[in-house]
Amino acid sequence: MDARGAASPAGIGVEDGGATVAIAWSDGRSSRFPAIFLADNRPEARHGLDGQRLTDALELPDIVTVREAAIVAAGVEVAFSCFAAPSLFDPAWLRDHALDPASRAARRCARQLWDAALGTSIPAETYDAVSVDAAALARWLGCVDRLGFALLHDVPAVPGTVCAVVGLFGYVRETNYGRLFDVESVERPHNLAFTALGLGNHTDNPYRDPVPQLQLLHCLEAAGEGGESVVVDGFAAADRLRREAPAAFDLLTRTLVPFRYVETGAVDLRHAAPLIELDVAGGVKTVRYNNRSIGPLDIDADDVPAFYAAYRQFGRLLHDPTMTVGFRLRQGDLFIVDNRRVLHGRRGFAGGRRHLQGAYADADSLTSKLRILAGRA
Ligand code: OGA
Ligand code: ZN
Repeated sequence: MDARGAASPAGIGVEDGGATVAIAWSDGRSSRFPAIFLADNRPEARHGLDGQRLTDALELPDIVTVREAAIVAAGVEVAFSCFAAPSLFDPAWLRDHALDPASRAARRCARQLWDAALGTSIPAETYDAVSVDAAALARWLGCVDRLGFALLHDVPAVPGTVCAVVGLFGYVRETNYGRLFDVESVERPHNLAFTALGLGNHTDNPYRDPVPQLQLLHCLEAAGEGGESVVVDGFAAADRLRREAPAAFDLLTRTLVPFRYVETGAVDLRHAAPLIELDVAGGVKTVRYNNRSIGPLDIDADDVPAFYAAYRQFGRLLHDPTMTVGFRLRQGDLFIVDNRRVLHGRRGFAGGRRHLQGAYADADSLTSKLRILAGRA
């Protein structure tokens, strides 16, 4: 271990005729570094400490080999056949970028799936705390990152404040609904959200490409009766579907579903995408579910019944009381969801002049802010 308690290199060797450098770490982990990876990432190939890469991998020879590698006082020294001077690597950099399975797993986002039990301890902070206290902001953003959902209490019930909350970590994503949008029951609504009707659990705007990644809803005035909010972890539901009905899960990852939103003469937004979208490793990346904007399918007639069976099975899981968390927004409450993962809905309402304001934002600024707050950048 070094002075900071991090694992340090305890042994080093050149293997595979110079194609690999193997490092044994003080905590027992061992990592293999391909020569081309080290050559491309050698410190001299970057401009300054935070700098961008100065070189292009194209400039390397077809076959890169290491002549010698040694642990020295200043770090790990690697001599490449193709460069005259050896390169000096920071052991912390090597550990942070090691390619063995344990090191790679440690770098992955700690996503936590949840179900109705989250309702007993809904993650929440206050607006005052996240505005002045970096630790509170880090906790709140950390919940959004891990759980895809968090509440914020005591947000001043002043129109426009939802944008100030976005400003704590990033930038508003403006859409045809505006920089922010008012969610209230109006006379001639374009969108069922702007009525007093209940809304089934849904992700917003699946007709956009890309979908808005984060959604915030701020309660300026609560309903007299009803209007309760519901959230559900779409990734947890997809995970259950994968376990309980693998063929249905598979079908929903492979079927393009057309979504559409039209305001005559103003917008005609369309995007076709699977209800469950996977990443390259087969993990769930995005869930889309919105009964209001799903369009007629455009698939082979023979495939339609099986699609509906899978779609309905997924929909039942997304509304299963053992999976959902319900709560009532009071004046000054705000909730944020990762709209690629967590669905939201509301019960119908009556009485009072219920008024929410919503805004969208992208998630890259949020995760960037989290890293800065954690001092990891
Ligand atoms: C929305 C929405 C929920 C609510 O505006 O996207 O889902 O509680 N609103 O009004
Ligand atoms: Zn919505």
